[in-house]
Amino acid sequence: MTTTRRLTIAIDGYSSSGKSSMAKQLARTLGYRYVDSGAMYRAVTLAAMRHGAINPDGSVDTDILYPLLPDLHIDFATEHGRQVTLLNGENVESRIRSMEVSAHVSAVAALGAVRQAMVAQQKVYGAEGGIVMDGRDIGTAVFPNADIKVFVNASAETRARRRYLELQAKGDTTTTYAEVLDNVVTRDHIDETRSESPLRRADDAIDLDNSEMTIDEQNQWLMELYDRTISRLQQ
Ligand code: CDP
Repeated sequence: MTTTRRLTIAIDGYSSSGKSSMAKQLARTLGYRYVDSGAMYRAVTLAAMRHGAINPDGSVDTDILYPLLPDLHIDFATEHGRQVTLLNGENVESRIRSMEVSAHVSAVAALGAVRQAMVAQQKVYGAEGGIVMDGRDIGTAVFPNADIKVFVNASAETRARRRYLELQAKGDTTTTYAEVLDNVVTRDHIDETRSESPLRRADDAIDLDNSEMTIDEQNQWLMELYDRTISRLQQ
């Protein structure tokens, strides 16, 4: 009997492109570990905000932030069947999804020392295979040898609409669609133009534009890609 290899799967793409939900669903189906690398950068950003490391102009005070980094322990746990993000043991899942964190996360994630600390931890998570990780640099910097690399995109308007509806469903009645669109476009720009592992499609990634796809359709697309890859690897 052959045992099925446990793959390393990298899902990268633009903000609010639906990467996380498809990555999470695939991990659940396969019994793999799921790591939301964006949640890690969001948790660092929350810590930075709490320690006054975000200046009024939005720049980051690295003299405050960098000494904190060794003491920031970010982990994941399952609560009521849902994966949540822990910052030094505290469940910060809903806090890190706020617009305030979204407004500062790309500036924090552009910092070399922050990326080095997060990427080192992400590589440890993936050391054994059997992982689905989503983010911006998973196929390029974290797991350049991943078995499957997907690069997800959809129009900025589609992505902003999805995120806006998500925020509304969570009870955020103050953020407007225009603010969400502005945040999506601004983060894309910072993510694409930073010097440290910018958001970039890996040369060997498979593209998915899910603008016109339902969640079920995109999940099925990813599952079929997984099935094809497994049969190729086991030939
Ligand atoms: O869910 P959403 O697409 O809005 O973003 P996210 O995946 O939660 O990531 C939040 C931010 O973290 C991104 O806009 C990037 O600035 C940063 N990030 C990154 O730099 N590298 C990653 N691997 C993941 C996220």
